[in-house]
Amino acid sequence: MNRLLYPALSLLALVSACQTTAPRQASTTTTSTVAQSQGVYQYRDEDPSVKPFFSDRVGTTGRNGMVASAHPEASRVGVEILKMGGNAVDAAVAVQFALAVVYPGAGNLGGGGFMVYRDAKGQLATLDFREKAPGKATQNMYLDSLGNVRPGLSISGHLASGVPGSVDGMVQAHGRYGKLTWQQVLQPAVDLAEKGFSLTDRDARGLNGIKYDLKKINPGKAYFIKGNPADTLRWGKDDRLVQADLGQTLRRIQAQGRAGFYAGETARLLATEMQRGGGLITEQDLADYKSVWRDPLKATYKDLTIITMPPTSSGGVALVQMMRFVEPFPLRKWGWNRDSTVQVMIEAERRVYADRAKFLGDPDFVKVPVPELTSYPYLKTRWTDFNWAKATDSKNVRGGTIPGYESLETTHFSVVDRDGNAVSITTTLNGGYGSRVVVGGAGFLMNNEMDDFSIKPGTPNMYGLVGNAANAIAPGKRMLSSMTPTIIEKGGKLYMVAGTPGGSTIMTSVFQTVLNVVEHGMTMQQSVNALKFHHQWLPDKTIFESGAFSERTQQALQARGYVLERLTNTLGRMDCILVRPDGSFEGASDPRADNTAMGY
Ligand code: GLY
Repeated sequence: MNRLLYPALSLLALVSACQTTAPRQASTTTTSTVAQSQGVYQYRDEDPSVKPFFSDRVGTTGRNGMVASAHPEASRVGVEILKMGGNAVDAAVAVQFALAVVYPGAGNLGGGGFMVYRDAKGQLATLDFREKAPGKATQNMYLDSLGNVRPGLSISGHLASGVPGSVDGMVQAHGRYGKLTWQQVLQPAVDLAEKGFSLTDRDARGLNGIKYDLKKINPGKAYFIKGNPADTLRWGKDDRLVQADLGQTLRRIQAQGRAGFYAGETARLLATEMQRGGGLITEQDLADYKSVWRDPLKATYKDLTIITMPPTSSGGVALVQMMRFVEPFPLRKWGWNRDSTVQVMIEAERRVYADRAKFLGDPDFVKVPVPELTSYPYLKTRWTDFNWAKATDSKNVRGGTIPGYESLETTHFSVVDRDGNAVSITTTLNGGYGSRVVVGGAGFLMNNEMDDFSIKPGTPNMYGLVGNAANAIAPGKRMLSSMTPTIIEKGGKLYMVAGTPGGSTIMTSVFQTVLNVVEHGMTMQQSVNALKFHHQWLPDKTIFESGAFSERTQQALQARGYVLERLTNTLGRMDCILVRPDGSFEGASDPRADNTAMGY
């Protein structure tokens, strides 16, 4: 199990910080230039061995529509729906259900997520279909009688699951915006489950990797196991995965809509599974679940408008805070991942994650001061201890003060249709393959999203994130998320659709991906390919993909006290779409995995 991802200003003040204290570049003789005139970023540094990109993949072009998702089969389904005359929401719903079949690591029926939507006329909507704590959940349900965390209970097995929201979310989204029938958008997923699909090498390795957990948590069941439960066979590339019970569940959803999941046979099977393994979710919890339309979080950055997810995700608030923290600095002039650029980004991230821990939680339960947290005067107060000469010590950083306030595995997909309607959805089971509980008779995996609550104040979750009272467990409450599905406008027109999985690293990956395009002049695909880094306040260190920093950048940052840790794995699995000046779409999917952009 991916236990720990970590081995695991006011504008004026910022500007004056830039002007009065000279940023120290490690080298004065070399430059990282933005080749704007060519439309393609070219990296130049003193060290020719440094390559800022994970791969040389180039973006996919489409004029009539684009789908970028974590799996080629799901992207194919999305494009087919668009070609049938479906709009971006039809395609997104079909992709969500297809991912539930072909990408069991994160695609889901048993999880939840968030959708940001912008129609061709600029009307906006955001949908929160995040899971909820079951009615019988209690604040200290993962603690023993001495108040210590009972290890693993919020991560693996039946007690780890929140009440799933994905199916209700898709019903709501399709009901409001869909053009094709519900039956039409469900059919590709039904076909993929019943007729099967060919595993990619990565699919096969993923399923082989969880075989032990599947057998332990689901005794006697053969779901996702090659052969019968007793076999020691291993999945291989191009093996066919057929999921008959999942096909039946999808058929019930296709025939009955919401009731095909939250009532009747599926609800009975899910509640029975929970009883079998000591989980809390009941048929009543399922009947009570409702996703929520929320007001989008909308904020400017220079000439762009960022449209992103408000709480229950912390992602949108964090993205806006980070963008506004760095807005006054000349990042483009300094260059991509040069030491001054990285330094201000790390210091922004440090402060944003401290705020997240203090203020963010389910807005239906706690007051989250979103306008204050994202305001320039507030951000100014957070920047006063910034010092070019020395890394701020996270021990001395706490969430800010707001007067009057008391208080790796996920998946993202982006869709744009020929009319310019755009959908940005991030959805998850939380950890890879969630709780590893497969609902007997229904064939789908359940989430382990309860771990996204603060199960004990100050105790890190599986992503090393700490939280406090705002994100404490309560019955019916949604656990705080980092998911950051985002749409960006330029000049009042659709410009970018972006998002990624990555737990606590989601917000910083989206942050870098946007900056790479808008500040450093990268194409959308270059920005996705670009190597990334991450700081989250605690633990006080910066993790980075190998190659993200030149030796000089590393030395310069280390000299100022920054702790750097090179990763052996990667950050982000972005799926993004950029609208080019000529109106065509650049689909950019992440070369770090099976992600695929398809246009037409
Ligand atoms: N489960 C990861 C997140 O919602 O942030």
